[in-house]
Amino acid sequence: MKVNCEPERVAALTVWPVMFDGSAAKSVRFGAEVEGVDWSKPVPAEVVAQLVSLQDKYAVLIFRNTGLDDARHIAFSKELGDELETNPFYYGIENDRVGNPLLFDVGNIDKDGSPVRKDSRRWHHSMGNVLWHTDSSYHQQRSKYSILLSHGNPVKGGSWTHFADTRRAYADLPEDKKREIEDMIVEHDLWHSRKIGSPQVYKEPLPHERTLKPPAYHRLVQRAPDERKTLFLAAHAKRILGRSLDDSQRLLWDLIAHCTKPEYVFSMEWLQGGDMVWWDNRQSMHRANPYTEEMTARDVRRSTIIDDGPLAFGVSRDEIHRAGLSVEE
Ligand SMILES: [Fe+2]
Repeated sequence: MKVNCEPERVAALTVWPVMFDGSAAKSVRFGAEVEGVDWSKPVPAEVVAQLVSLQDKYAVLIFRNTGLDDARHIAFSKELGDELETNPFYYGIENDRVGNPLLFDVGNIDKDGSPVRKDSRRWHHSMGNVLWHTDSSYHQQRSKYSILLSHGNPVKGGSWTHFADTRRAYADLPEDKKREIEDMIVEHDLWHSRKIGSPQVYKEPLPHERTLKPPAYHRLVQRAPDERKTLFLAAHAKRILGRSLDDSQRLLWDLIAHCTKPEYVFSMEWLQGGDMVWWDNRQSMHRANPYTEEMTARDVRRSTIIDDGPLAFGVSRDEIHRAGLSVEE
């Protein structure tokens, strides 16, 4: 999956771009496999700084065979931000295989080791993860990074995560489309993507689910950490304020379709336990493989680092009112 080009070298790190075209006309740089991190001990601050700088550039960093366990996965995540997201344990902490509030069990196996039961609520919940999204865009204080670590050995050819470059996709939009969407504010709602993923089971969230995850408001067009403009988009994106739901969905899914054209997308295969991918939700989208009755076991656990940057809190109700808009439909 590494492209055929010279690796970038940063101190002890070797960086193999996944999607790369250095020509001035294209300037493609998305995803990279990074070698040279010593995961056997805490990652020193200067290496963390090198990695963050690479992350700003590539948006998705892949590390193979790290040998990390849950505790060191969390410890590394805490080097990247002050606060990690807490798992809401929708199905009860007693039913969660990992049981650690700082890790989300986003694999496909239940506590007894068997594949997630077809038609269970967890099965249907996962259907929303197959749609292109950014993690936690439905939080008013969104999350900047997600780090997914594989445990155990997946079956070859059976386990993938897919990534889309929203910066380059934005750059390629026609100018009139850029003007049209420049100031849009979008309502993001976890239950909207669950409903698209599984319309029968998630027609309405349960009352405690709705209370846990109310909607949030973010600008559609934003600046990525590398200062390029990008689209902050996800299957959670429900309504553009000031537009009807139908109009909003048409425009949002047109944009998602644009961002996920093959020229902006790569797929990462999970090869072995210890493989880890760290992505920036502020400048990419991703999606998981769907649950199927034929799926092979995938034990992947996610830490999520809360955004502490200038756009972390999205758009406040005050700003929405000042713009002459309303959160009501
Ligand atoms: Fe996700």
